[in-house]
Amino acid sequence: MSRKSYTDLDPERIPRHIAVIMDGNGRWASRKGLPRLEGHRRGYKALKNFVINAADFGVKAITAYAFSSENWKRPPEEVKGLMKLIRFAAKAELNYMKKKGVRIITSGRFHELPKELQDQFNQDFDETKNNERIILNIAVNYGGRNEIVDASKKIAEMIAEGKAKADNIDEKLLSSLMYHPELPDPDLLIRTAGEMRVSNFLLWETAYSELFVTETLWPDFSKDDLYEAIKSFQGRTRKFGKVVEESGKQK
Ligand code: IPE
Ligand code: IPE
Ligand code: MG
Repeated sequence: MSRKSYTDLDPERIPRHIAVIMDGNGRWASRKGLPRLEGHRRGYKALKNFVINAADFGVKAITAYAFSSENWKRPPEEVKGLMKLIRFAAKAELNYMKKKGVRIITSGRFHELPKELQDQFNQDFDETKNNERIILNIAVNYGGRNEIVDASKKIAEMIAEGKAKADNIDEKLLSSLMYHPELPDPDLLIRTAGEMRVSNFLLWETAYSELFVTETLWPDFSKDDLYEAIKSFQGRTRKFGKVVEESGKQK
């Protein structure tokens, strides 16, 4: 339980979409002498709290990096354990998410996921599709480069079918072919566990996201940490390449 009241946040400047690289589960576990999978289990609980806390602050969408296209290179037992855990969580939390107004969607190469996980997610998508409080986009088997490759393939098909011309390819068209064009680009990208890299996450969408890196390991990430991240975000001057005074006023 936190002692803070969080009243000094500006309700007009709450990030609409937060992307989060939930890193440090393994370190959290090994520092406690526990198996890595226990860290992932605690990480899933942290995500559950994160979504509800974000909704309380007025955030409208979360994209959470749960499993990258490179994470298949981990030891088979960890990969198997993670797939099982993601499926367990997608089933165990469905009713809770329904009740809390959370809409569940995913980003990534869905058809490469184990069949049972696809089935569970399909049920989640279907049963939460009318929820409007917050979107939880789970990035699983997600790679930023894959997403751009997949969009490029769609463009190639459109050209082959005569539906697009090379001359007409622009950022708007590419954006519309990403996995979830209906989501606004993330305003804020949070990475836990201190690493200063993007690890193939949302390469297209984070072009102008504000970055917040914390040493806190993901299983320990609390409502206070989320408050700190939003507070820091609200102190930034977003420029988008323009000349902008520190007050945020455009020249
Ligand atoms: C992030 O935690 C979760 C996944 C990548 C699935 P890690 O497992 O990467 O934790 P560290 O980086 O080893 O501490
Ligand atoms: C990024 O974390 C992927 C997820 C959080 C799911 P990693 O732990 O896989 O990233 P690297 O290997 O440290 O770059
Ligand atoms: Mg890691």
